[in-house]
Amino acid sequence: MSKVRLGIVGLGNIGKFHTGYLLAGKIARCELTAVSDTHAPNLEPFAAQGVATFSDCTEMIRSGKINALVVATPHFLHTTLGIEALRAGLHTMIEKPISAHKADAERLCAVAREHPGQVFAGMFQMRVEPRYLEIRRLLAEELGRLVRVNWIITDWFRTEAYYASGGWRATWKGEGGGVLLNQCLHQLDMLQWLCGQPARVRGFCQLGQFHDIEVEDSVSCHLEWANGATGVFVSSTGEAPGTNRLEIIGTRGKLVLENDRLTFARNGADMAEFSRTATSGFTKPEVTHLEIPFESAANPHATLMQNFVDAILDGTPLIAPGHEGLGSVELANVLLYSSLLQQTVELPMDGAAWEAKLNELIAGSTREKKVVKVQTDDFTASFRK
Ligand SMILES: NC(=O)c1ccc[n+]([C@@H]2O[C@H](COP(=O)([O-])OP(=O)(O)OC[C@H]3O[C@@H](n4cnc5c(N)ncnc54)[C@H](O)[C@@H]3O)[C@@H](O)[C@H]2O)c1
Repeated sequence: MSKVRLGIVGLGNIGKFHTGYLLAGKIARCELTAVSDTHAPNLEPFAAQGVATFSDCTEMIRSGKINALVVATPHFLHTTLGIEALRAGLHTMIEKPISAHKADAERLCAVAREHPGQVFAGMFQMRVEPRYLEIRRLLAEELGRLVRVNWIITDWFRTEAYYASGGWRATWKGEGGGVLLNQCLHQLDMLQWLCGQPARVRGFCQLGQFHDIEVEDSVSCHLEWANGATGVFVSSTGEAPGTNRLEIIGTRGKLVLENDRLTFARNGADMAEFSRTATSGFTKPEVTHLEIPFESAANPHATLMQNFVDAILDGTPLIAPGHEGLGSVELANVLLYSSLLQQTVELPMDGAAWEAKLNELIAGSTREKKVVKVQTDDFTASFRK
């Protein structure tokens, strides 16, 4: 194979965004040959450009027109369409979250494992942002043992119009969660990619605190890692202007990422060792304050897409293997589950228990969702976090 013939299912905000750089020829050795959406008007511009269009994704999968598929529909369909594509022999990339809940994510990953010759990738584009690559390097090389992580990410402000823009949004049935599973999923991917999965968590989530929705739009969570490190994760879609501050403390110093600045307060000595050996009670390690420069990735989604194509054609290692999408789904689920149970939950969580709880929430939902046409041309403004 010398070229990937790509299909995309779901031509909403993100699906359309992917088609933009693909049709502009930004991805080498890849042609967008087909698209699918159940909403017919979304297909019209593509038919006019000679791209095959399908209202039924199954037909696209079986059409012979594609050998790889990007799934960019609402979350619950990620599992079903992902499994269908893998079983049909297609290389498959799934938008985040890879599934709406952990049990589904495990089903999807199990099918991917049955097809080891096909590439199975996730769209976790923050993994190529230089700021997070720097943090990952500093954690591995300079920060010492992880002690504490605080992430306040409350600048995910969303209006009622946003929630009204899709019947699936912010419903138990359509999405399976709120700010954790949707807006924060990238931060949760980063959190476990940088620091590893915590060992236990206690979530405090408020459902529909700021909006007329049934799922969580405000969360404050406590995390604990196996080595005793602790963390706090705070998020909301109801605060403006909001904050995005990531603070990671290791025994060798403190990293802070905020307002597009990454700083490193580097301890002259390991603080735990210093504490054990100092003879004075009030002394501290000397500290050097460093500013760590970084660029922003030009088009991180396109970088992941090129990596997907290169993995298919050349066997290049994936930046975000699909099965690594399990970690963020589990975190999003467990923080909410812990809050609903009002107790600390150990990880790995029981995916079947959360699925049963979610099904109860779905069955008990009485909300009628009003869907209205809204402007979404400002959608990409939320990419840089
Ligand atoms: N990686 C990122 O930066 C990023 C950004 C935004 C959204 N996302 C993810 O992408 C997914 C879609 O989000 P969105 O904001 O684009 O949603 P959206 O509602 O704007 O678009 C979803 C599209 O899927 C179509 N669709 C629904 N069911 C379908 C089916 N059975 N077959 C074909 N098409 C179908 C809808 O008609 C709609 O056009 C979500 O899972 C979301 O979490 C990822």
